[in-house]
Amino acid sequence: MLIDTFGRRINYLRLSITDRCNLRCSYCMPAHGIEGKRPARDVLSYEELREITQAAVEIGVEKVRITGGEPLVRKGVVPFLAGLSAIAGLKKLVLTTNGMMLEEMARDLKLAGVESINISLDSMRPEVFRKITRVGELSRVLAGVEAAERVFRHVKINVVVMRGVNDEEVLDFAALTLDKPINVRFIEYMPTTRESGWRSLMVSGGEILTRLSHRFRIEKEVRDSLEGPAVNYRIKGAAGKVGFITPISQHFCQSCNRLRVTSSGMVKSCLFEEQTVNLKPYLAAGDQAGLREALAGVARSKPSQHAFLVPGSADSQRFSMSQIGG
Ligand code: 5AD
Ligand code: SF4
Repeated sequence: MLIDTFGRRINYLRLSITDRCNLRCSYCMPAHGIEGKRPARDVLSYEELREITQAAVEIGVEKVRITGGEPLVRKGVVPFLAGLSAIAGLKKLVLTTNGMMLEEMARDLKLAGVESINISLDSMRPEVFRKITRVGELSRVLAGVEAAERVFRHVKINVVVMRGVNDEEVLDFAALTLDKPINVRFIEYMPTTRESGWRSLMVSGGEILTRLSHRFRIEKEVRDSLEGPAVNYRIKGAAGKVGFITPISQHFCQSCNRLRVTSSGMVKSCLFEEQTVNLKPYLAAGDQAGLREALAGVARSKPSQHAFLVPGSADSQRFSMSQIGG
């Protein structure tokens, strides 16, 4: 078991397997792709990603989320996932996707051992969706959501709410849960691109909850410990749930259980932590013990809360979700 200096049990790894993506979300990357795009050799091989996961499980990780970029654009992802789910001690393998390729891949992902899917979908209006993702095709994502619903028991839709962009749609998103057993989660917009106007874009979870409760009767759900940071509600009589992820208005750092590894093998203890540890030397040397120690060391040194809440530390670096994996 891995306990950090603040008493948190670290048992969840977010593993980014590529920084490429078939979308160009405005809050994630510049229009032309990521800055300073690394040559392909920088990205870890599947074998290396497997070794990292194995080491993480050996030190106490029980749940792994595969992210990107967009994980489904990497060739060979299905057999890679099948290999991961065979790791003894790994209890839960889950994946976050933008849904563009889910219609074709949902079944294979399930067969490879993926237990549940999170789909990032910020708008159900084709023009708004296009504006946010720059190149996305809403109909493909909606087909992907349907395919996932047929195959998986748990489907979550993540909506990053942005004032003046998609915040008018929160009622429509909540209404989706009335007869579908999906979990729609509203995420507060975070300053990942360090733009100065981010606060005016951010809509707090509290504000969304108020808006929903003007329309629906909503009841709080009992918390599930493996659920992560979302606080869930249910519209009375609804099949699914609505959740709130509030990194800004009510940060959940005190219960954070995660480690992050980027597609180039850098471990991060926090989304907003600038210090990283490079796992490549341990991989190159076949040093399993060193790999475990490096992961455990970063886990133990997790900051008590994210750095951008600390005054003065916010503007130093640009973080791109396509590199860190959200
Ligand atoms: N603020 C909030 N959520 C974000 N994501 C990406 N960038 C941001 C941001 N700036 C979300 C994606 C996806 C998850 C991996 O991270 O929409 O749901
Ligand atoms: Fe791709 Fe996700 Fe970034 Fe959008 S937010 S560009 S879907 S990695």
